[in-house]
Amino acid sequence: MPGDKSISHRSIMLGSLAEGTTLVHGFLHGEDNHATLNAFRAMGIEIEEHADGVLKIHGKGLHGLAEPGDILDCGNSGTTIRLMTGLLAGQGFFSVLTGDKYLRKRPMKRVLSPLSTMGARIWGRGGGDLAPLAIQGGSLQPAVYDSPIASAQVKSALLLAGLYAQGETTVREPHLSRDHSERMLRFFGADVRPFEGGVTVVGHPRLTGREVFVPGDISSAAFFLVAALVTPGSELLVRNVGVNPTRSGIIDILQQMGGSLELLNSRELSGEPVADILVRSSDLKGVEIGGSVVPRAIDEFPVVSVAASFAEGTTTIRDARELRVKETDRIAAMTSELTKLGARVAAREDGMVIDGGQGLSGGTVNSHGDHRIAMSLAVAAQCAKAAVTIEDTACTATSFPNFWDLLGQATGGKG
Ligand code: S3P
Repeated sequence: MPGDKSISHRSIMLGSLAEGTTLVHGFLHGEDNHATLNAFRAMGIEIEEHADGVLKIHGKGLHGLAEPGDILDCGNSGTTIRLMTGLLAGQGFFSVLTGDKYLRKRPMKRVLSPLSTMGARIWGRGGGDLAPLAIQGGSLQPAVYDSPIASAQVKSALLLAGLYAQGETTVREPHLSRDHSERMLRFFGADVRPFEGGVTVVGHPRLTGREVFVPGDISSAAFFLVAALVTPGSELLVRNVGVNPTRSGIIDILQQMGGSLELLNSRELSGEPVADILVRSSDLKGVEIGGSVVPRAIDEFPVVSVAASFAEGTTTIRDARELRVKETDRIAAMTSELTKLGARVAAREDGMVIDGGQGLSGGTVNSHGDHRIAMSLAVAAQCAKAAVTIEDTACTATSFPNFWDLLGQATGGKG
């Protein structure tokens, strides 16, 4: 699998803020991560790219970034813009962040509001909710923030801002979101204290360059797990997948649906749990999904809805309103596209209800410019009764540049 997107972003950010050299193995060379890489280069960080894809980051310490000479383009990447907003709020310079037409529609107040309580000065369109964002960095005060949503991007923006505040910055969240920032901050030497319901970071740490091994992305593996489960006679071993418990909700959901998935060779890489996953085709059944598993599988709901279309009975997804503000409105997009293939799907404000078991027909569907919608539809196509044409598939390059080749290999050319 390609490297984990979330961990790849953080490796550039922390490698740049550390003193000394950081080597990153398994970095995801996708468009989202390149947006982060280019932004740090634009702020004076030297990042070498070796032929084998390994990155060598020449970190300049917590106060080593330079004012960028131009607008920083975050492309399609919510993680880049939201985490960097927190980070840039604490710098002694001015910066502007923007992104593509999808990113410029996504809500930014969720980071701007709590950052303003720390003294950050940030402006944006739409009353401060939309990019482009203009940031006049400066000194920050620590904060205690009760986030109304379980969002790793919000939490991480505050933790990164907290590095520049004297004292302790605390973020509490309703359910634990992915904790890659916490793990990597600690790995680079910061004082990070997780507790039940939240996490505290102590400002002004000294970060030291490290060797980071990025595990394979479970969100990318998810497409192959579902493809193998719904394709009769399949057996697939997916090697070197990150199985951090804050990300592995997809394994729990698919097992609950009756999927045969086994974790083998469990180990730890740079502070992150990793395993190989053996999956065999299975008869899936509909399930109820809601509560704390939702943030643990937040990027996997498009492909979960595909699995549910092939499962016997009804699958109900609740508590997943956040899907409406992802790269696209993923509830609306999957409902409309699966319906085109004959699935019985109803959108709810905070999720979907899918009556599965009738299989899918052929047809023409559209990705809505969203990488995970495109790849989920490709999985749906594997077992559809007739050919499926997917429009607008270039977006898969944001997180999974070799998706189509790998799908072809795994399906013996059918992909
Ligand atoms: C991410 C956090 C999640 C996820 C996104 C990556 C991260 O977003 O959907 O793909 O790297 O922190 P939210 O924090 O908005 O839930």
